[in-house]
This record gives sequence, C-alpha cells and structure tokens, in this order.
Amino acid sequence: MARMLSVVGARPNFMKLAPLARALAARPAVEHVIVHTGQHYDPEMSERFFHDLGIRAPDENLEVGSGSHAQQTALIMQRFESVCVARRPDVVLVYGDVNSTVAAALVAAKLGTKVGHVEAGLRSRDWSMPEEINRVVTDRLSDYLFAPSRDAVENLRAEGTQPERVHLVGNIMIDSLVRSLPEAERLGAPAAHGVTPRGYTLVTLHRPANVDDPATLAELLAALALLARDEPVLFPVHPRTRARIEGSRSGALTPSSSPPGPLSLSGEGDVRLLPPLPYLDMLGLVRDAALVVTDSGGLQEETTYLGVPCVTVRPNTERPVTCTHGTNRLVAPRRGAIVDGARAARAAAGNHRGPIERWDGQTAERIVAVLVDGVRYD
Ligand code: UD1
Repeated sequence: MARMLSVVGARPNFMKLAPLARALAARPAVEHVIVHTGQHYDPEMSERFFHDLGIRAPDENLEVGSGSHAQQTALIMQRFESVCVARRPDVVLVYGDVNSTVAAALVAAKLGTKVGHVEAGLRSRDWSMPEEINRVVTDRLSDYLFAPSRDAVENLRAEGTQPERVHLVGNIMIDSLVRSLPEAERLGAPAAHGVTPRGYTLVTLHRPANVDDPATLAELLAALALLARDEPVLFPVHPRTRARIEGSRSGALTPSSSPPGPLSLSGEGDVRLLPPLPYLDMLGLVRDAALVVTDSGGLQEETTYLGVPCVTVRPNTERPVTCTHGTNRLVAPRRGAIVDGARAARAAAGNHRGPIERWDGQTAERIVAVLVDGVRYD
C-alpha cells in the first residue's frame, strides 16, 4: 500500500488537488491523506471550494491562519512536522507556489520523505514576488517535478535539475476546468449577475505589488472606472484587496458595510465590487467575459484555455505560454496602460493559437501513472 499525503492551504491549491484526489481514490493500492494548513480560512476562500470541487474534508487542519511570511511558514512547518512523522507518507505532494507549498516541502525533505511538486518549473525571474522564492525552493527540494508546460521543463533543465525527475504532465488546473465547465454553464452566472455573455469585463486583483501601495491601488481603480464607461465591470474582491480598499482614504470608495457585505465604487460607471466567488460561478463568468483583467496566475491559464482575452497587470509572468498563445498580454499598473491593453486585447479576440500541449484534462491521470506505475512523461 502506497501512502500519498497532499498539503494544501490557499484557494489556488484546491482546484489543483481536486483532480489528483479523484485519480488517487480510483487506485485501491493507494492511501491518500489530505492536510489543509489553514492558510486560507474564510468559508468562501476554502470550504466552499472543497464542496464545489467534490474534495472530501481534509484529514487534518493545521489552522495556521494569517501572519507575516516567516510566521506563517514557520507555523506550518512546526505543525506539519508532527503530522508527517505520525502519518509516515511515501510521498508528500505540494501544489503551486504559496507559503503552504514551500513550508510542507521543507519539512518533508528534512524528514527524508520524497516530495512531489504539482506545477513545477514556472519562473517569473522576479525575486520581489514571494511566490517566485516559493517556486524555486520547492523545486530544489522535490523528487518528482510535475511540469505544466514545455517552458517549465526547460527552466528546470537550465537550473540543472536531473531530467529523470521532471515530467511534462500538463496543467492540472485545466483538469478541474474541463470537468466543471458543463456544471458552471448550467448555473448561468452571467444572467445571475445581470450581465450578458461578452457584455462585461471580469476583474481580480490581489498581488501585494498591486494592492498594498495606495497610489497603485488608486490607479487600478481609476482604470476600472474608465473601463466601466463601456460596459459593466464585475470585480470579486480578495480579502487582502478588500482590506486595502477599506483602508484607503481616497474617498473614491464607499464601503457600504463591513465585510462580507457589498462595497460600492461611487461616482464612475458600473463597477461592481463583489465578495470572493465560488469556483463554478467564477468559471461561468470567465467563460462568457468579453475581457478579463487580473493579476492571478490561474486566470491567465483559464482564459488561455477558453480563448478569452486577458490583460494581466504585472511586469512579468511565470506563465509565458499564455502570452505566446495570443490570449494574454502584460500591462503596467497605470490607467492608460490598462485601458490601452484592454482595447488591444479585445481587438485581438479569437486570434490565438491552437491547444497547448497536454492541457487536456488528463494531467492527474499522468501524475498518478508516474507516482504509482513508474511511467515517464518527457
Ligand atoms: C496567497 C498566495 C498567493 C495566491 C493567493 C490566492 C502566498 C505567498 N501567496 O496570497 O500566491 O495567489 O493566496 O488567494 O502564499 N485573508 C482573509 N481570509 C482568508 C485568507 C486571507 O481575510 O481566508 C486575508 C488576511 O488579512 C491575510 C491576507 O488576506 O493577511 C493575505 O492572505 P495570505 O494567505 O497570507 O496571502 P494571499 O494574499 O491570499
């Protein structure tokens, strides 16, 4: 009996866990333990995702909550170490690039337990991003590196990673997307939000570089107000961003109640600030959006798969395939750049390449084949 142990903690981890948990559950000779670190703890950032993605309740919750990077990482390490010692997994599986990922990888590696990294090899080459540090360290500690794309394989090769550790398995986010799309379509999210397909812009912004500096945040909100002159802007607001907006004294924003009530952006077009949305609602809104404006990694990939124009408010991306594909473009956090980028992205709508290698809904199966059957994916 092989024992796999998955560690997840933050929202973008959950759609990566779901397909793998399902594929592992189909193997009678595998036991799969799920550990939630508690990095994300609000029900709409966590529990709801487990429910909608059909993930069973975690076997352990470390309940670490929020804190500085060092505090959060250290607390996960402390609490995960005893779990790892007690459960004695053969492989610890970690996902993406959040603090929970690197913390669990460090613990497992120091205990001499094999580490498998789902979404290995992505590089922004921007050391000011906490996620980049998490990616590089996690990959260095991993025995199984599950790369989503060819560029990720090349990054690992250039860093000297042993080739036999690296497997081009494809993008596991797309497994969740492919499986959930019919249900998301049935929900009719655009109609539920009073917008028409291809008649609205969908926005998410939460990176510290964008929302923690009041001047940058004000610039971004001004851009949204300009975009809203043309059509409604739907903006599900991450808790970090909500806190910054409520803390801003610009006067442009009127918190109409304390969380989790609605916020409103007064004065300018139709910008609707919403609470964080469940996975299926969000997927339905992405699918039918005229344009997505974001700084999220996952949305860059989802829009690429769905062929939806995307403007990413960042100076770089660890997912360059989304740009070369033709759906995604990077812009600076300034109102003129965002509005120009939005116009260019919409003008280029539909003008993109064919499917990306192994972004086909079969990634979890490939990972299980590597872990359990010893298959290789070059
Ligand atoms: C984390 C990830 C980021 C990912 C994002 C997705 C790291 C370094 N960053 O950033 O890569 O894109 O998750 O959401 O791991 N908060 C709540 N409720 C929650 C969770 C957080 O209110 O359930 C608030 C807290 O005020 C907290 C802040 O959000 O301090 C930041 O949360 P944290 O998990 O530390 O980082 P994220 O910004 O969410």
